[in-house]
Amino acid sequence: MGTKIVGTGSYVPERIISNEQLETFLETSDEWIKSRTGIEERRISETENTSDLCAKAAQHILSNAGVSAEEVDFIVVATMTPDYLSPSTASLVQDKIGAHSIMSFDVNAACSGFVYALSIADKLMQSGSYRYGLVLGGEVMSKIVDWSDRSTAVLFGDGAGGVLLKHTQGESFVLGEDIHADGSRGHALTAGTLSLSEKWSSQEAEYQYPLQMEGRSIFDFAIRSVPQSIQNLLSDTNTPFEDVECIVAHQANERILKAIAKKLKVSPELFAVNISKYGNTSAASIPILLHELVAEDKLVLGSSKKIVLTGFGGGLTWGSMLIQL
Ligand code: ACO
Repeated sequence: MGTKIVGTGSYVPERIISNEQLETFLETSDEWIKSRTGIEERRISETENTSDLCAKAAQHILSNAGVSAEEVDFIVVATMTPDYLSPSTASLVQDKIGAHSIMSFDVNAACSGFVYALSIADKLMQSGSYRYGLVLGGEVMSKIVDWSDRSTAVLFGDGAGGVLLKHTQGESFVLGEDIHADGSRGHALTAGTLSLSEKWSSQEAEYQYPLQMEGRSIFDFAIRSVPQSIQNLLSDTNTPFEDVECIVAHQANERILKAIAKKLKVSPELFAVNISKYGNTSAASIPILLHELVAEDKLVLGSSKKIVLTGFGGGLTWGSMLIQL
């Protein structure tokens, strides 16, 4: 029972906020942000919520693949910034794109969310019960960022992207995966605490809505865990680096990507990068970048080239997949 990626697409809000614009209300500088992260600007949503971005990305993917929304058999959305706790963002997308009443659900694994969602979608496709599956990653990070905290506000941006999977004869496009979580370190990145009801609980309610991050410990975690994960993946699948066309990694910080490349003793050129334009869009960063590479003909669907997707972030979560285009 096989599956392949037959379409990619993305959507980002129109409003561009440059580093210089952040300088007007934060004690920061374009020089600091660029040299520490590689970020020059980010997209910020003024009127669209996560489901709107995801629905537009879905329409883009379907139009690129020449498939109608009525043909889609399930929708998975990776997000840590849903419109609501309920309904799920995926349910809202199902309605917005005019799909039938198909299975639709969200996955929350922060910046590793797209890797998690793609892994789950691959298993669903292997069941043989579905012909087309939409896998999306979408975030409006701007609504959970504390805009007075320079240590986090400068890092994030909004956007959505995704892929369309099609059931085929032959093999799955997923050649291997190495996916993890370690909740014992989850406190290093938190957002949106929900406390027990004061009516019933003697515990003091804890209100902490905005995202908080121990930046340095996430940095160290990423440069330790991600190289190990990629090494495990390639050794489990007997794949030498020479066979990997490109690594599409979560775009959190260009310095993290360079450090990972150094640890793996591979050229940093192997890592695709577009963080300068979008910042860290969490679960959306991998599919936005993947689509950009396809749109620019740097990657070709159906070419059988092998690429690595790798995500890391809140949870803590991390995971890598070897896929064949
Ligand atoms: N502008 C100017 N100065 C700043 C800013 C800013 N925006 N932010 C922090 N600083 C200052 C700090 O106060 C500190 O000053 P001090 O030395 O006087 O105390 C100095 O810059 C250095 O701060 P560090 O935190 O040590 O800077 P670092 O080089 O580690 O870069 C960063 C910080 C960019 C956050 C980095 O640690 C990082 O990228 N971490 C990983 C983030 C990540 O990967 N997240 C992924 C998951 S996100 C998710 O899952 C949703």
